[in-house]
Amino acid sequence: MGRDVIIACDFASAEDTFKFLDKFEGKKPFVKIGMELYYAEGPSIVKEIKKRGHKIFLDLKLHDIPNTVKKAMAVLSNLDVDMTNLHASGTKRMMEAAIEGLTKPDGTRPILIAVTQLTSTDQESMENDLLIKEPIDKVVMHYASCAKAAGLDGVVCSPLEAGKVHDTCGKDFVTVTPGVRFADGDKGDQKRVMTPEEAKKIGSDYIVVGRPITAAEDPVAAYERCCREFIG
Ligand code: C5P
Repeated sequence: MGRDVIIACDFASAEDTFKFLDKFEGKKPFVKIGMELYYAEGPSIVKEIKKRGHKIFLDLKLHDIPNTVKKAMAVLSNLDVDMTNLHASGTKRMMEAAIEGLTKPDGTRPILIAVTQLTSTDQESMENDLLIKEPIDKVVMHYASCAKAAGLDGVVCSPLEAGKVHDTCGKDFVTVTPGVRFADGDKGDQKRVMTPEEAKKIGSDYIVVGRPITAAEDPVAAYERCCREFIG
């Protein structure tokens, strides 16, 4: 699995997304399409970005009964994305069903990764709202192990957790890490951040970078800097 920088295209419309991607001219960065853009524009946004030659991480975080997730994954598989995801809290059975749905008749499928505990969930909200009393680190590693046991390829996690996920689930288990900022950049609302260089050192396989690139004065230069620091 090659290391790569994924740009979070958190735009509200296809128009804004293409205005942004047009700046890259010949380059074809790996892009993440999240709920906002997908729900605004539908599957056509995936097809159009794919047609332009980009790899796509479709970040829709599925979570439902196994049969529904299996069928939804089969639809997403037809969109020919490169990576997609679901919530590990949907259980191992749901994750296994997702793989069944995602796998094409020729046996290939996109990379499938799991969200463990969202980084917006802290120990207190997990205990009070979800009634999970174990330490959050332990819960994250347990969910990652369940995802691995179900046959998934990896997890979304904070860069600070990537090393431990590799220790627990093996170095081939993919870690996709948001929360990346340049050393001299603005943190925005992200609390626990790492530079691309630090994320590389700790062993992240993919970093997901949004505003440090999308809100930069020169997004192409910011993307290239990210690639230099993370990939080398
Ligand atoms: O702009 P920024 O670099 O903070 O964007 C990070 C991207 O990663 C956003 O699309 C955000 O929704 C996503 N993400 C995150 N933290 C998670 C999971 C996803 O920041 N735990």
